[in-house]
Amino acid sequence: MPLGLVRHACNVVAQAVGRSYQWCRLQWFRWIYPGLEVGRSVRLERGAVLLVVRGARMRLGDRTVVGPGTHLASEGVLEVGADSYVGKGSIIVAAGRVTIGSDVLIASNVVIRDQDHGTATTRPFRLQSLDIDPVNIGANVWIGANACVLKGVTIGANSVVGAGSVVTRDVPPDSVALGIPARHRPRREVGQPAAI
Ligand SMILES: CC(C)(COP(=O)(O)OP(=O)(O)OC[C@H]1O[C@@H](n2cnc3c(N)ncnc32)[C@H](O)[C@@H]1OP(=O)(O)O)[C@@H](O)C(=O)NCCC(=O)NCCS
Repeated sequence: MPLGLVRHACNVVAQAVGRSYQWCRLQWFRWIYPGLEVGRSVRLERGAVLLVVRGARMRLGDRTVVGPGTHLASEGVLEVGADSYVGKGSIIVAAGRVTIGSDVLIASNVVIRDQDHGTATTRPFRLQSLDIDPVNIGANVWIGANACVLKGVTIGANSVVGAGSVVTRDVPPDSVALGIPARHRPRREVGQPAAI
């Protein structure tokens, strides 16, 4: 048998084994976390970790893909809509509430958190209670690689967050938010000149 064919066959088998293993891990998470609700055809990829503390909820919509090495944690309510994608290495933590709409594309190494540590000067940060404010991301939002979405932020539907941006304030629908802190402007098609 030609070497190329052997390699291809090994690859197909390895992928099938990998998919089965990840499916088992997803069922395991469902079993250990009663608050985890998983839609149809949700895919968990290699090294992705889900954490749902007792009494909290996490919902992953139909056909959502939780990418490799991601970390999704809920101590309150974390909802991801249908057909969304959480990219490699991204971290989403809901201490209170994080809601992500459908068709949302989250690139790699994105951080979304609805909490800060208290910043009183009298004691260590680790001993201070969290300051929590919900995050809400609308449908069909694209969040670029290494972006960070901070507590209390709403990103309107059909918006883009540029790579490496830090979103500290609300972004209206159909906008592009860029930079640190992210400033927004109306979205336009690629190649379309900015409005004067
Ligand atoms: C936001 C993005 C889509 C480009 O949007 P755009 O509207 O086409 O923006 P332009 O390329 O026309 O740039 C407009 C201005 O914004 C700046 N800009 C573009 N992206 C930026 C970013 N991520 N952060 C800060 N500024 C940015 C440009 O430098 C330019 O500034 P200038 O007018 O002073 O020259 C793109 O830059 C980006 O960040 N893509 C994400 C890539 C990624 O993460 N891919 C992963 C695949 S899922």
